[in-house]
Amino acid sequence: MAYDASDDPRQLFGRPTPRIDGVAKVTGAARYASDEPVANPAYAYLVTSAVARGRVAGFDLDQARAAPGFIDVLTHENVGGQVKTNPDPAGKPDNTTTLESDKIWHDGQIIAVVLAESFEAARDAAHRVGVRYAAEAPSASFDSPGVQVEAHKPQTPDAKKGDAAGAFEGAPVKVEARYSTPTQHHNPIELFTTTCVWDGPKLTIYEPTQSMWGLKGGLAKQLSLDPKDVRTVSRFVGGAFGSKGSPTGRTAWIALAAKRLNRPVKLIASRDQGFTIATYRAETRQQVKLGATRDGKLVSFFHEGWEVTSRPSGYNVAGVETTARMYACPNIATAVNVVHADRNTPGFMRAPPETPYMFGLESAMDELAYALNMDPVELRRVNDTQTDPVDGRPFSSRSLMPCFDQAAARFGWSRRDPKPGAMRDGDWQVGWGCATACYPSNIGPAAARLSLTPSGKAAIQLAGHEIGTGAYTTVAVTVAHALGLKVEDVTVTMGDSDLPPVPVAGGSNNAASTTNVAYKACQMVRDRVAGAAVKAQDSPFHGADPAALRLQDGLLRGPGNLSEPLDKAVARTGGRLEVYAENIPAGLPPSAAQGLYEGKMVMSRGTGRKDVTAFAFGAHFVEMRVHVRTREARVGRVVSAFAAGTIVNPTTAHSQFMSGAIWGLSAALHEATEIDADAARYVNDNLADYLLPVNADVPPIEIIMVPEKDDRVNPLGVKGIGEIGITGMNAAVANAVFHATGKRIRDLPIRVEHLL
Ligand code: MOS
Repeated sequence: MAYDASDDPRQLFGRPTPRIDGVAKVTGAARYASDEPVANPAYAYLVTSAVARGRVAGFDLDQARAAPGFIDVLTHENVGGQVKTNPDPAGKPDNTTTLESDKIWHDGQIIAVVLAESFEAARDAAHRVGVRYAAEAPSASFDSPGVQVEAHKPQTPDAKKGDAAGAFEGAPVKVEARYSTPTQHHNPIELFTTTCVWDGPKLTIYEPTQSMWGLKGGLAKQLSLDPKDVRTVSRFVGGAFGSKGSPTGRTAWIALAAKRLNRPVKLIASRDQGFTIATYRAETRQQVKLGATRDGKLVSFFHEGWEVTSRPSGYNVAGVETTARMYACPNIATAVNVVHADRNTPGFMRAPPETPYMFGLESAMDELAYALNMDPVELRRVNDTQTDPVDGRPFSSRSLMPCFDQAAARFGWSRRDPKPGAMRDGDWQVGWGCATACYPSNIGPAAARLSLTPSGKAAIQLAGHEIGTGAYTTVAVTVAHALGLKVEDVTVTMGDSDLPPVPVAGGSNNAASTTNVAYKACQMVRDRVAGAAVKAQDSPFHGADPAALRLQDGLLRGPGNLSEPLDKAVARTGGRLEVYAENIPAGLPPSAAQGLYEGKMVMSRGTGRKDVTAFAFGAHFVEMRVHVRTREARVGRVVSAFAAGTIVNPTTAHSQFMSGAIWGLSAALHEATEIDADAARYVNDNLADYLLPVNADVPPIEIIMVPEKDDRVNPLGVKGIGEIGITGMNAAVANAVFHATGKRIRDLPIRVEHLL
């Protein structure tokens, strides 16, 4: 390679790289949290409430105590009060899954923890625990008597501009419709596990988590420990999707159990328990009103949502913050309401706000296109904007229409006959639909330790999270390319809170946060090597400008085609070459650094910046086929295009985009947690009855990565890609179903009975 003096680090990226941890994963060498060997563990099994509302009147424990292998049982009667309430990320009390009192907030709440000599013995003893309930009739969801509805408490004021009601009234073309999305559960293949080990005052927690330092800080608070005494370890996470982002109630109880027994304790919760001891995507209802001129320009946008949450928590996702920013519009009004029911507290699930709320917006946009007799792609073009319609800030970059145009061309959209039901293939009605995808580009403060040896081996340590996204590889390619090494010369250590903190692996911030701090560390290493070289008599760079020197191709290189071997250049820095980098993204307050070390969820949000609004954008095109007699709906093909700034590793990026698109198909056609309205209980709480797409449900999916250089989102131009793929896909499917059949389905998932 020729010497490259470019200071644009974005040119370092874009080379397809297989996962560096791929072999470890497929051979079983990768250690997931519950694989960590601990000496002589006792096993925990959870007893969960069989009623959704009321109190525990008492326990009958004799039979459990008599079970073979029984050791101990924890309930609110013997250990309640030893754990502080479980703080949710926003600091609100969220104690619906703890054992602190006899209060039952929801079905499946943890009410006792049984400890025994083996998993089987603990399960057996747990099944022998008798519980007497003082039960009350629960409220399950939206239409249940007894739910409490209130306006949500937004982090930033709800988007409002102009006179949306007046403009809607006067608009020549209008669409007004209600939509709904169902309850969904993450069902990561790796179950919710916790293993706790005490060594004197020091507690080690092996638990799959998306937030090593968040779990550490959260547990220290719950157990009144010095955070220095709490260590969390999770080298690999077997799927999370948001469900392992915030501390849940179980961890403190396992820590407490290990303390009481003076012995490691291991919990592996069952699949059905995972539905109620962790979080889920709450069901939503939405109303959308769009008013437009006859040439398709939006004049009024109104979006209101209702979301279910637990009794004590105000958790909500409020996707109107995103939908209000999608298209140019002078008059905007939005609102969100929370509906408190006797349910466990919901939480993040892949694109928490955008997955449900973009369904409402992008369905309504399709309805508007039909009302206008306008092509739906052209409707997006007419309303495209480079300025945030709510705040008036520029988008850091916005390549929505290039995504639509490239995907449309590839899909063959120009051959579409817009008339519903017009396209037919034998016994199948064929429909083509499209929708916008988007996700805000977030970045958090992060730290990393990086070393480089004279033999050209780099090692980087950070408490990052591999939740299946390829995070080890993302960091490895950054270091390799920035230091001019091969990827295999870089060792990445993550998944341990003893390492420098990085933010929660959520909100699609991971790639931006970790690559930017890793790059910063590489620059510090480069500065040390270059600084030593220009001072050295024996270097070809003696007296040169250190800023002009680069680590490339295993050499220290500079202008004039001069170079010197890495071993000489590194050895000259003296001792061990190691740096500690901290990256606090521009615009965050100085307190962000402290928050990082306290495990707080501090982030520069794509919608919350002063300088720009930052989103990644995309476009989905879907062919749906609906059988004329059986009404079976099948996906024919998919083309999705995304522009997400610098693509760090196209190999793993492709997987993220494609898996998101598949989940979007699932959200449209398969997935829903069914709720027993009388018992406020999840019915299909297993992988047999919780419908997911299998390979035969998923057609060829073509992913287009539209090149995009973003100068403003962050120094490396990296936008998040983990969540955008799922967004809008549910609407693209529903829009294609409408085109195929003439039936507008506004309630997900779309099922045979809706198409009769
Ligand atoms: Mo993701 S739902 O932000 O963990």
